[in-house]
Amino acid sequence: MADKYTVRVTGQDVDLTVGEDQSVLDAALRANQWLPHSCTQGTCGTCKLKVLCGEVDHRDSPEYTLTTEERDSGLVLACRVTPRSDLVVEPMGAVDDGVPRHPLRDHEGTVVVLDDIAAATRRLVVELDEEMQLNAGQYAELLLPGTTLARQYSMANPPSETRRLEFHIKLIEGGAATEGWIFRSLSVGDRISLRGPLGQFHLVDKTDGPVILIGGGTGLAPLKSIVQHALAEDLAPELYVYHGGRREVDLYDVEFFRELDARHDHVHYRPVLSEQDWDGATGMVTDAVVADFASCKGMSAFLCGPPAMVAAAVKALKRRRMAPKLIFKEEFTVAPPVPDVDAAAS
Ligand code: FES
Repeated sequence: MADKYTVRVTGQDVDLTVGEDQSVLDAALRANQWLPHSCTQGTCGTCKLKVLCGEVDHRDSPEYTLTTEERDSGLVLACRVTPRSDLVVEPMGAVDDGVPRHPLRDHEGTVVVLDDIAAATRRLVVELDEEMQLNAGQYAELLLPGTTLARQYSMANPPSETRRLEFHIKLIEGGAATEGWIFRSLSVGDRISLRGPLGQFHLVDKTDGPVILIGGGTGLAPLKSIVQHALAEDLAPELYVYHGGRREVDLYDVEFFRELDARHDHVHYRPVLSEQDWDGATGMVTDAVVADFASCKGMSAFLCGPPAMVAAAVKALKRRRMAPKLIFKEEFTVAPPVPDVDAAAS
């Protein structure tokens, strides 16, 4: 049986029990003890902790996220590190930001929808056996059957839908989860395992100013959750939704957002195409935002999509005088290829 260790997080009242194969972050979130995190894959660095006392295994913490100097100074990545003794750790930033959190849980469910909705893009809807509480914009990890692999997908359903999770999934060539499973063998009626909720990209509190939401490709998913939640709870005075794609076949849920736009005076939906002329907006999605707003002062933004799009949007919004602390972002990155997953996942 795996050894278990006690991990004390300074400033939190509850000691964590962490298995020798379990990350400190996983144990904390399951105990509903919040620790800052974003990617849970060792790539963003958001989850750094300082080890004040005890021995650890950094496992596969990458050097580009946690340098040798940082390791030598006692820093660890909470999402990768496992204990090798009892530990005392200290978070690097504020832990309690007043946001309500929901404990991380393992879930089982049944696939009830698996539809092609755009070019190489599917909508996957899973009916869970038990409820998942979440904040609008968070993600879950789908577990690939027959493997130890997990892949992360934002939930597009609002938090009010606790038993029905909606995911938008883009086919990745050679991707273990997509080409190897979701676009190959997964079917309606199949059972599926997942864990969540995860991440700190979310809209929870009422905003004073208008909100701009910019999604590239399937980066629309968490924004769909946020928009529905904001409407249900009356959280924002104005909601500007921009969805960028290369061609018209890349867009989806156009009618859904057009209908919201028509029904609510304070919802504004703008799809933008970068490689096709049509009767809508054209160019880079961030250029369309810049063209629409002379100033973004007092506004906030939620950005989700490929890193280049997110970086361009941050730059454009800062140029339009949006406060950096009001810009929230989630970058979609592609997991590294797994050589023999086809056999494992089939
Ligand atoms: S490195 Fe991103 S959450 Fe740990």
